[in-house]
Amino acid sequence: MASFVVGLRRFLGALALLLLAHQAAAAEPPAFVGRSGSKLVVNGSPFLFNGFNAYWLMNVASEDQAKVSKTLSDAAAAGLTVCRTWAFNDGGNPSLQSSPGVYNEKMFQGLDFVVSEAKNHSIRLILSLVNNFKDYGGRSQYVQWARDAGESIQTDDDFYTNAKVKQYYKNHVQKVLTRVNTITKVAYKDDPTILSWELMNEPRCEVDYSGQTVTAWVKEMAAYTKSIDSKHLLQVGFEGFYGNSTPDKIKLYNPNGYQLGTDFITSNQVNEIDYTTIHAYPDIWLQGQSEEARKTFLQQWFSSHWNDSVKVLGKPLVFAEFGKSKTAPGYSQKVRDDFFSYVYDVIYSDAETSGGSFSGGLVWQVMGDGMESYYDGYEVVLSQDSTTTAVIKKQSDAMAALEKRLSGSHH
Ligand SMILES: *[C@@H]1O[C@H](CO)[C@@H](O)[C@H](O)[C@H]1NC(C)=O
Ligand SMILES: *[C@@H]1O[C@H](CO)[C@@H](O)[C@H](O)[C@H]1NC(C)=O
Repeated sequence: MASFVVGLRRFLGALALLLLAHQAAAAEPPAFVGRSGSKLVVNGSPFLFNGFNAYWLMNVASEDQAKVSKTLSDAAAAGLTVCRTWAFNDGGNPSLQSSPGVYNEKMFQGLDFVVSEAKNHSIRLILSLVNNFKDYGGRSQYVQWARDAGESIQTDDDFYTNAKVKQYYKNHVQKVLTRVNTITKVAYKDDPTILSWELMNEPRCEVDYSGQTVTAWVKEMAAYTKSIDSKHLLQVGFEGFYGNSTPDKIKLYNPNGYQLGTDFITSNQVNEIDYTTIHAYPDIWLQGQSEEARKTFLQQWFSSHWNDSVKVLGKPLVFAEFGKSKTAPGYSQKVRDDFFSYVYDVIYSDAETSGGSFSGGLVWQVMGDGMESYYDGYEVVLSQDSTTTAVIKKQSDAMAALEKRLSGSHH
């Protein structure tokens, strides 16, 4: 009898705890990631993360949801909490937008699944709205649509200036932001699972290297995006190339002094842009140069953009793409692990020094199993590449601990 009562009490106690835990989880309002000065914040405290790219999630989800679930659950197990992916696939087959304003519902439901499943794994999404490059349609597909509609188009760079093309782009922005998720029933613009929008993956412009054309486009599209959705953060999608507003920095920091038609400073000065991004591929950008030269470049790339983000722009910085290709000369898994560790150490120490202005990094790219057809040399298959996964996990834990420490000192 007595032992029955103790047993019952234990059982009820455990049940009460379970219910409490459940209530706490259910009661906690999902919070949007916001910005306070040069920091990303959530619930008033600095938001730090370790994250990854997986551009293909929507496409794969429209065909094979299990692969998306596996990728997201492996990522969550490695402590990754932010994922950057494409909310576009223009023209082509299969596509999200097959022609201007015409959408493939099955593909859109793939994106619904990605958002819902990310939420279930406590992963936040950065959703990019168009590509600079031809993969998945991009700028080139948009101007082709306008050409087909009788517009006089000179080059793909008319994307930034042709009124009809700009309207097509705005229509797409509106379509995605106001989409009501068929699984969660929440409109994308109201869903805190989405960390931010990205105007374009890696904007570039050949007809105007100064950066002014792209900055004018950023101004117009950033204002438009925020007019539909003022809850979410917004970023451009830049690699970080300097333009005409900082001639000294073009020479000092752009790889080989190249200009690619963007101006890191003037575009990121636009009011509606909340945080800055850089990408870095020194193996490709500095071909034929020594490992030492690449490391020096990377150090300066970090340091100059971080200085500019915090001191000139007063906005947080995210390292939105970096990776190590298996095709790089001298590649080994150890070389990749060392490279990741190096990048992670810089992110961590800058995040620590600044109390959170360097918010985190996104490795290109992470995959679950059975994704061979998406291998691009940069893939990290979390369940198979155990040493790299350990390096990633270590950084996730470090950033989470730092976030905790910084929010502790915040109250
Ligand atoms: C996420 O979890 C909810 C509640 O458990 C479930 O209804 C939903 O189907 C899940 N989402 C996905 C994409 O599996
Ligand atoms: C960034 O700022 C620090 C501190 O002011 C300075 O020491 C460093 O040289 C700057 N880095 C670059 C690349 O400008």
